[in-house]
Parts: sequence; structure tokens; C-alpha cells
Amino acid sequence: MKILGIETSCDETAAAVVTGDGEILSNVVRSQLEEHAPYGGIVPEIAARAHVSTLDHIVADAMTKAATAYEELDAVAVTGGPGLIGGVIVGVMTAKAIAAAQNLPFLAINHLEGHALTPRLTDDIEFPYLLLLVSGGHTQLLGVEGVGKYCRLGTTIDDAIGEAFDKTAKMLGLGYPGGPAVEKVANNGNPGKFSLPRPLKGREGCDFSFSGLKTAVRTTVEKLPAGPLKNADIADICAEFQAAVADVIRDRVTNAIMQFKSRFPQGNTMVVAGGVAANTAIRSALSEIADTENMRFIAPPHNLCTDNAAMIAWAGIERFKLGLIDQLGFAPRPRWPLDPDAPSAPFAGVKA
Ligand code: KG4
Ligand code: ZN
Repeated sequence: MKILGIETSCDETAAAVVTGDGEILSNVVRSQLEEHAPYGGIVPEIAARAHVSTLDHIVADAMTKAATAYEELDAVAVTGGPGLIGGVIVGVMTAKAIAAAQNLPFLAINHLEGHALTPRLTDDIEFPYLLLLVSGGHTQLLGVEGVGKYCRLGTTIDDAIGEAFDKTAKMLGLGYPGGPAVEKVANNGNPGKFSLPRPLKGREGCDFSFSGLKTAVRTTVEKLPAGPLKNADIADICAEFQAAVADVIRDRVTNAIMQFKSRFPQGNTMVVAGGVAANTAIRSALSEIADTENMRFIAPPHNLCTDNAAMIAWAGIERFKLGLIDQLGFAPRPRWPLDPDAPSAPFAGVKA
């Protein structure tokens, strides 16, 4: 079995071909970083236009690299949401056109399900497992029970974690995207030189909050002597910021493991996904907790943690195997929670 996957929900234009047994035949990702960098963040209209002008070439490239003809495909899978709607429409229309022209089954994939099922593409794991999804648009703790079956244990009540990294970087003049820049600079700094809060630490439940941390970074910067920021201060603030985030994650994830284990006593795997999963301090905090709690810990390789189309093709394979085909009348969804029973949180589903 071979499925073509397409991803255009944020600022990556991506296409991939993946086989039924999880072999990635091609995985092409074109980042729009350069287009958005001058604005210090993603501009939805620019993103949609960049998807329109590049997607055809990216799909052709993925098919060539996979040495696959359209007639050899078994289905086409595309991110149907949640995400920036202009981009999602570009991907969905392209996938529908390919499906109609080649008479192939069409699969509309929830982008978050793409992230959530990635560990089953990279590792041999069974349901259920606990997932921490940490990206520019999402911060969620989910119990993954099966394809299409998720229970949300926690989410952010304000900013997403990647957003907090990006805004901190912007305040410190470190450019966009902020996560990798903050991490790099933090390596030269000392946590504790400045003092930042650990929002919700010690509280019941598994929700997150990052807006107070972001504000605390701003007030810390404002209290410094006027003039250009010193590199040493920037490094110390980044180190403290990263330590605060890691502390909060330790606390929230420990609570989530308790809840997960009481719902799914047979589950013993914890997985992290999303762009922020690239952060070494966060990965080691998670791996420590997993050790303490006797859980297996899986972090997919970085290129499969960040947005890509291999994860969409793979989610397509999982759904196709279960006969979960969609109609060509599918309407792109800007919001599409994985767990429809969870109360909606502000900003959830805007961007994955
Ligand atoms: O999953 P992703 O590639 O895109 C979406 O948000 O959908 O995640 C991007 C986010 C950005 O906020 C970026 O700053 C953050 O992941 N990020 C990191 C690191 N690398 C990327 N955050 C912290 N440390 C990193 N090393
Ligand atoms: Zn994503």
C-alpha cells in the first residue's frame, strides 16, 4: 500500500509518500521561514500564497523521489484542519483534484492526529499511550486510545508553549523562530540569576499557562539598565526561562501520568511530539519523569516532530486500513479538536 500525504496548515508546504508498513519513500518539506521572518511571525495571507505557488512542485518532487506513479497510489491524504484556513484550503483542493483525476480514495486528516500517530510510524508501539503535544500553536496532554479516539487531559489556558519561546526571543532581539535561538543562548547562561514564575506549578490538574511567564520576561527586561541588552543578561534570562518551562512541564506531566494510569492501567508509554520537542532540556526533563514513573519514553526524530507530510500520509494509512474514507465534499476546518468532549480552551485549534 502507498499513500500520498499533503500538509499545508501552517508555514510548511509538504508532501510525502509512505507505505502501509511505515516506510517513508519521500518526505519533502519547504519551510516559509524566509517569507515570514521580516514580520517576526507567520502572516496567514503570505502563507496561503506561498502554498499556492509551491505545492504543485512539492507534490511532483515527492512523487519523483518516491519513484512512484500516480496509478500506483492507493489513496491521497491531506491535512483537513485545524490550521490557517487559507493554507488548509490550498492543500485540500489539491488533494481532491488528484483524488478525482486518479479515481483514488480521499482522506481528510486532523493535523493533530498526524502528530499523535507519528510514534507508531517511527516506533513499534501499541495503544494506549500518553502524548505531550508541544508546538507553536498547541500545548496538550492527550490519552491516545486508538485511531480517532483521544481524551484530553490538559491544555494551555492561554499561550502555546512554542509561542512563549517565540515571544521571549522577540523581546530579547533573538529573531524568529525563537525556540532554537532561546535554547542556543540559554546554554551560555545561568538559571537563577533572574527569577521567573512557574505558572500553575503545584496546582491540581494538567493544564498549562504561559502568558504570565511571558509578561514576567518583559518586566525583567524593562528593569534592566537602559540601552542595548548585554549578551550575558540575555543568556541568563533565556536559561531561567527554559528552566521555568522545564519545571512546569515536569509538574504538569507528572499529574498527567497519574490521570493516564488511572484511566488506562495497561498503558506504559509516554510520547512527545511537536516542534518544541526538539528542545534538549525539555526532552531530558521528560525522560527523567518517565524513568521515575516507570514509563517507556519515545521522542520521534526532529524532522518528524515538526510539521511534515509523512505524518499525514501515515495517519491516512492508519485510517485507510480501518476503512475510514472521506467524501470529496469534505469542508476544510479551521478548528477541529481531537477530543470533542473536552471543554474548548481559548486559542486551541488555531494553529498546530
Ligand atoms: O510543530 P512546529 O514545527 O510548528 C507548528 O507550530 O505547527 O513547532 C514550531 C514551534 C515554534 O514555536 C518554535 O519556536 C518551536 O516549535 N521550537 C522550539 C525548538 N525548536 C522549535 N522550541 C524550543 N526549543 C527548540 N529547540
Ligand atoms: Zn504541527
